[in-house]
Amino acid sequence: ADVSTIRAGLLRWYSTVHDSRNMPWRKQYDPTLGPEERAQRAYEVWISEIMLQQTQVATVIPYYNRWMEKHPPTRYQADASIDEVNSLWKGLGYYSRASRLLSGAQKAVKDYGGKLPDNAKDMQANIPGIGRYSAGAICSIAYGESVPVLDGNVNRLLSRFLALHAPPKAKAALDILWSAAEAMVHDLASAEYPGDINQALIELGSTVCKVRDPNCEGCPLQSHCSAYAATSQPTNPVVDME
Ligand code: ADE
Repeated sequence: ADVSTIRAGLLRWYSTVHDSRNMPWRKQYDPTLGPEERAQRAYEVWISEIMLQQTQVATVIPYYNRWMEKHPPTRYQADASIDEVNSLWKGLGYYSRASRLLSGAQKAVKDYGGKLPDNAKDMQANIPGIGRYSAGAICSIAYGESVPVLDGNVNRLLSRFLALHAPPKAKAALDILWSAAEAMVHDLASAEYPGDINQALIELGSTVCKVRDPNCEGCPLQSHCSAYAATSQPTNPVVDME
């Protein structure tokens, strides 16, 4: 099947599940937002993506809400102290994420007028703590930029989809997987948004194309999945990338 068919199936599936877990950082993408509102969206997505890196959605929600009460998107938290940031983070674990967030905010304030850069390339190159995955997530979701995401979940999903029986962290495998992720967000139809596709891939990877016991019967990509066709999906490489 061509990629537009696959994408349409993925988006149809996403529209049936995407608000079922009530994630406060998820909002309908609005292409008419101006630069100020887009910057605020980028901030919300940034905080959520960093909190979600090693932590489950249900755990993150109350932390995210408390963070936004204290540090709303209209005011970057560069003036916060590391002690205050750590206290908002208390219980979430992986505290280096909090200090990287503060470094990133300080850089945004110092060099970008208190905003994140307005594209993935500059964001990844210039903001501490933001790598290719986070820049892809933030810019696709907040700006509608056609840039891919590849986290552990999407890596596993695409490895199976392509029946890529290669060590999933090997450079050659990563090149193929990033290219596949890129193809998913290219040449979109007018009502298709890259942030929806990326979040659909993340969500499908984490809730359906699970490490163990993938729910292939509930998967919108089943009929296009090479590992499913070869009944090799349980043994296809499994990876935790972060
Ligand atoms: N995990 C990482 N990013 C996510 C997102 N945007 N939605 C749901 N789960 C996620």
